[in-house]
Amino acid sequence: MRDFLNLSDAGGPALAAMINDAIDRKSARKAWPKGQVDADAPLAGHVLAMIFEKNSTRTRVSFDMAMRQLGGSALILEAGSTQIGRGETIADTARVLSRMVDAIMIRTDDHAKIEELAHYADVPVINGLTDLSHPCQIVADLLTIVEGGFALPGLQLAWLGDGNNVANSLIEAAGLMKFTIRIGGPAGYEPDTEFIARARAAGGEVILTQDPAEAVAGAQVVVTDTWVSMGQPGGEKHVAAMQPYQVNQALMAAANPGAMFLHCLPAHRGEEVTDDVIDSNQSAVWDEAENRIHGQKSVLLWALGKL
Ligand code: CP
Ligand code: NVA
Repeated sequence: MRDFLNLSDAGGPALAAMINDAIDRKSARKAWPKGQVDADAPLAGHVLAMIFEKNSTRTRVSFDMAMRQLGGSALILEAGSTQIGRGETIADTARVLSRMVDAIMIRTDDHAKIEELAHYADVPVINGLTDLSHPCQIVADLLTIVEGGFALPGLQLAWLGDGNNVANSLIEAAGLMKFTIRIGGPAGYEPDTEFIARARAAGGEVILTQDPAEAVAGAQVVVTDTWVSMGQPGGEKHVAAMQPYQVNQALMAAANPGAMFLHCLPAHRGEEVTDDVIDSNQSAVWDEAENRIHGQKSVLLWALGKL
C-alpha cells in the first residue's frame, strides 16, 4: 500500500516506470471507446473514493475514467454534502472509508489535511491537488513531454507566473528526473523554498529569475498556470505583478523554436496565456488534459502495488 502525496513518494525510477506503462496502455487501447476496460482489467473489483473540497473538471473525470478503464469504479464525495462538511474529523473519515473502499483521492486546501488522512487511512491516499502540490498533474505533463519526443534528463523547461502548487510539483520533478527548470515570476510569488532545496539536492537545476525572457531562453517546454489559484486571495496587486509573465507569441518566440506549450487548465485566456499561444500548433494542452487519464492509471496501479 503506497500513498501518493507528492512525486517523491514514488521517486524517479517509479515515475519513469509510470510514464512507460502509461504510454503502453494508451497505445494498446487506441481508438477504443473511452469506457472500455483494458484487456487485463488490473483493478477489477476495486473502488476509489474521491473527496472534493474544491472545484474540478479534469481531475474528477480523469480519475473516474481511469478507474473504469482499469476495470474498477469510482465514487465522488463532495465534501460539503458529507459529514466532513459538518465537522467529522479527517481521522474518523479515513478510518471509515478504509473499511469501505480500496483507495482514496482527495482535493483539498491545506496539505496537512492530506497528510493526516494518509496517516489514519489503511488504504492508499492520492493527492488530487492541495495548496502545496499537484503531483498527478505533473505525471500527465511528463508523459506529454516524453510523447513530444523530449528526453527528461537534461530537459530545459520554463515556468512563467505564480509559484503555485503546480510549479512546486514541477520543481520536484526536475529533481527526480534531473532536468532544468527556470522559474520566471515576480518577487514575493516564488515557489515553495523546501521544494526548491530538495530538487536541487536531488540533482535538478532550479533557476529563479524575474526576467521572463531569461526564463524562456533555450526552453524546450514553456509552462504556465492561472495567476490566482483556488483559495488564494488574489487581488489587483497580485494580478498586476503577474502581467509581465503572460505567455504570448513574443515570449514563445524567445524560447527554443518549436517549444512545446503546456497549461494544466483551466486557462484564463488573455491573462496568463493568449489565444494565439494556447490555440497554436506548439500547444499540447489537449493531449496534456487527456493524459490525466493515462497518467493516473499508472498512479493508481503503483499505489495499489500493481506497478
Ligand atoms: N488541471 C486540473 O487539475 O484541472 P481540474 O481543476 O479541472 O481538475
Ligand atoms: N494552480 C491551480 C491549478 C488548478 C488545476 C489552482 O490550484 O487553482
